[in-house]
Amino acid sequence: FKTIIEPFRMKFVEVMKMTTREQRLKLLEEANYNLFKIPAEYCLIDLLTDSGTGSMSADQWAGLMQGDESYACARSWFKFKSAVEEVTGFCNIIPTHQGRAAERILFTTLGVKDKLVLSNTLFDTTRANAEFLGAECVDMPCKENEDPSTPAPFKGNIDLQALERRLEEDASKVACLVMTVTNNSGGGQPVAMANLKAAAALCRQHKVQFYLDACRFAENSYFVRDREPGYEGKSVKSIARELFSLADGATFSAKKDGLANTGGFLISNNEDLVQKATQLLIMTEGFPTYGGLTGRDLETIAVGLREVVKEDYLEYRIASTAFLGAGLAARGIPIVEPPGGHAVYIDATAFLPDVPRSAFPGHAVAVAFFVEGGVRSCEIGELMFGGEDPITGDERRPAGGLELCRMAIPRRVYTQSHMEYLLEVAERVVATKDTLKGFKVTKETPYLRHFSADLAPL
Ligand code: F0G
Repeated sequence: FKTIIEPFRMKFVEVMKMTTREQRLKLLEEANYNLFKIPAEYCLIDLLTDSGTGSMSADQWAGLMQGDESYACARSWFKFKSAVEEVTGFCNIIPTHQGRAAERILFTTLGVKDKLVLSNTLFDTTRANAEFLGAECVDMPCKENEDPSTPAPFKGNIDLQALERRLEEDASKVACLVMTVTNNSGGGQPVAMANLKAAAALCRQHKVQFYLDACRFAENSYFVRDREPGYEGKSVKSIARELFSLADGATFSAKKDGLANTGGFLISNNEDLVQKATQLLIMTEGFPTYGGLTGRDLETIAVGLREVVKEDYLEYRIASTAFLGAGLAARGIPIVEPPGGHAVYIDATAFLPDVPRSAFPGHAVAVAFFVEGGVRSCEIGELMFGGEDPITGDERRPAGGLELCRMAIPRRVYTQSHMEYLLEVAERVVATKDTLKGFKVTKETPYLRHFSADLAPL
């Protein structure tokens, strides 16, 4: 069949509010042009994030009812632990309330102060956590990542030569390498197994710890199966196991490829680190068998982890992202090619060449989609990563220099007709293109300014 259908049906639905263009303009003004501040009920298609926004399956809802809320060693903990072991192969598991808590615990226990954290590209919260603890973060995306319009199978790769150079300069200064799979800030692009293997070998040679930011490990594994020679026909589950086997550990947000609405974990084979991390967990998150999560949450993640590696689900997932990407491109909206796993990234610099980087072209595109059709998306560029470095006072630059507008697709939420509506909205955005102006920031915070900044149109 040409049509890859949603491999699920609806058991209950969430009713949304329809709005007019005038209402949306007013909502924007009231939110000081920050899309994070718009009440979600007015976002007809909410593509702000794929994080924690997915629909749970009937089995996950059933799991909710089975949650064991005992403080220590609850039945739900053992189910969670066994699912994490099955999918990752790791048995030291530290549950956390979401991914960034795992990151904070990892970076605190690794001791990143005055050290380097190397990466293909760190996501915003990961970078902020490391910087807040005094680390210097260095993103080293591969060369193909710099050219948004040219497709390549694994644009999430790290630049291995740059990594080798850094490690040879002074490996003792490096706290760890974090490989983000898929590479969210770099366009949602996958990392090849070969690239991960080479990076792992370099880390071993230089005795540097190698961690995965594994939020979207299943999508990355599916791309490996689809695109990397030697992996055709292998199960996604076995590819995922191989991926995890290369690392000393990983941080994970169950809000993405855990198919859950909250949760996360840290896994590691470094016993000393695990011991320290567990102490910190008890102090800040909760007892080691729940780590800030309810028994119910642990149940939903256990089920979600087993569902997310299913090929039927991933085939539909990646196909629907590709459908949106191809549709936008066909309507004259340049995107990062090829579309990523969880999101399509509009190349805002190419779409709005007259809006300078300092006027946030990615944000201008995101605002236009909201005005025209109530579609909420998210800037990834100067607004998210730029501004003054809180430590050095220097002007920061987004990794790879790309100004993007990200349309992240929640898992199992929207149908083909939602995507078709979105493409009609895109046609209206294209029609207004020449009138689109940039923005200026009128109020901001030193870290993660995009979440709370006030903006005004120029
Ligand atoms: N790492 C990556 C690559 C992420 O994309 C995220 C979250 C995190 C870590 C943190 O996980 O939210 O559970 O604390 N990304 C979301 C996004 C917020 O919209 O891309 P968390």
